[in-house]
Amino acid sequence: MLTYGCQMNFSDAERMEGELDKLGYESIEDMEQADLIMINTCAVRENAEDKVYGKIGEIKNLKRKNPDLIFGITGCMAQKEGEKLIKRAPHIDFVLGTNKIQEVVSTVSKLEQAQEKHIVDTEINEKDMPEDISIHRKTALSAWVPIMYGCNNFCTYCIVPYVRGRERSRMPEDIVSEVQEAVKQGYKEVTLLGQNVNSYGKDHKKATFAELLSMVDKVEGIERVRYMTSNPKDLSDAVIDVIKNSQHICTHFHLPVQHGSNRILKAMNRVYTVEAYKELITKIRNAVPDATITTDIIVGFPGETEEDFQQLLDLMAWVRYDQAYTFIYSKRSGTPAAEMDEQVDDDVKHDRLNRLMELQNKISLEKNQQLQDKVVKVMVEGTSSNDDKVWSGRTSGNKLVLWPYQGHEKPGDLVEVKICQPQTWVLKGELA
Ligand code: SAH
Ligand code: SF4
Ligand code: F3S
Repeated sequence: MLTYGCQMNFSDAERMEGELDKLGYESIEDMEQADLIMINTCAVRENAEDKVYGKIGEIKNLKRKNPDLIFGITGCMAQKEGEKLIKRAPHIDFVLGTNKIQEVVSTVSKLEQAQEKHIVDTEINEKDMPEDISIHRKTALSAWVPIMYGCNNFCTYCIVPYVRGRERSRMPEDIVSEVQEAVKQGYKEVTLLGQNVNSYGKDHKKATFAELLSMVDKVEGIERVRYMTSNPKDLSDAVIDVIKNSQHICTHFHLPVQHGSNRILKAMNRVYTVEAYKELITKIRNAVPDATITTDIIVGFPGETEEDFQQLLDLMAWVRYDQAYTFIYSKRSGTPAAEMDEQVDDDVKHDRLNRLMELQNKISLEKNQQLQDKVVKVMVEGTSSNDDKVWSGRTSGNKLVLWPYQGHEKPGDLVEVKICQPQTWVLKGELA
């Protein structure tokens, strides 16, 4: 299975693979050897979709060589395009939407037995939240645990509410028992997932996000708790309080601001103002002085003027984020922003992105340089991807740390690393 997109998609993939274990499938790297290929897709920006179309094209040849190969598309693009994907590429055997994790088994077995030629199922039944799903966890460090599905916010640029449906929260006891299960399997860290975790529980009212965090914090054996993503409009004082007083919740706040101009924030339907956002940052810094704060930004939203963009740069300079994930606005048909006049020219978008990244890289480096010669606590992840003598891990603030392997550290261990060479994206050091 090839997976694109956000952590939620990777979590869904672990569940679909867990379910497919029941049919005797095992996951392998080499597509040429596969009996079943699935692409779990993302639709958030156009380039994410382009990548998938490229892969679909590549798989046509494999299908020609091996006519028994079963090929399916799942995830957000499957939800968005449905039937159209098969019209465009008839070598696709099945298309399953974002709420169809358990249906993977019956779909693949029907195709194995050639009961049907093509299967398309993209219905979202929001009441249907199956709990008895097998999970094939793949991460080394952190176990993904979805706490809620869908999104009700309808930010005007975003496709997610259309492809993931309305918000629905899992029961707190199911989440806690999944966390306990992950701990039993050896995980010491979990990441609670949702498009807007701060509205957790608003539907079933069994627990708020603050209460859920505190339940997970108390699970025996858990060392670190992370969560993604937090919409600034809903981050409550209660959540900040729980984090401040917790044992294990990480000191990392990912608070996507998206823009720094009130006019653009309004057009984006983000609901908060720059002033309210700044107040929130001040509150966090007062409560958790060593917090790492990161964000997501979109440049080139329709109607963005040079003045709006300057206000964005001003906000970035004021907050001084540890890291910012910056995106060029991508038009998603069906969303309100796609219909807005004054779409920004591509070269202006690219120029603004470069200027934004230049400022942010300078700030990220300066922030990391403050850690020069300091000793930080790191949870070991494993070998860094390109060198097995260099190992990597994360600080509580989610900063990536690299050090020369000393032979005794194991994934999941907490070790102390002295930072010798802080860079923009990584901290290089040695075991203290
Ligand atoms: N639920 C999360 C975001 C999920 S999408 C949240 O609200 O923070 C991840 C990021 O992709 C968003 O934060 C946004 O910055 C970016 N994004 C979403 N739609 C986009 C679009 N049409 N063009 C460019 N970036 C987009
Ligand atoms: Fe998209 Fe906004 Fe929902 Fe995040 S909160 S998924 S950006 S609509
Ligand atoms: Fe992409 Fe779907 Fe996630 S559109 S960002 S995979 S929710």
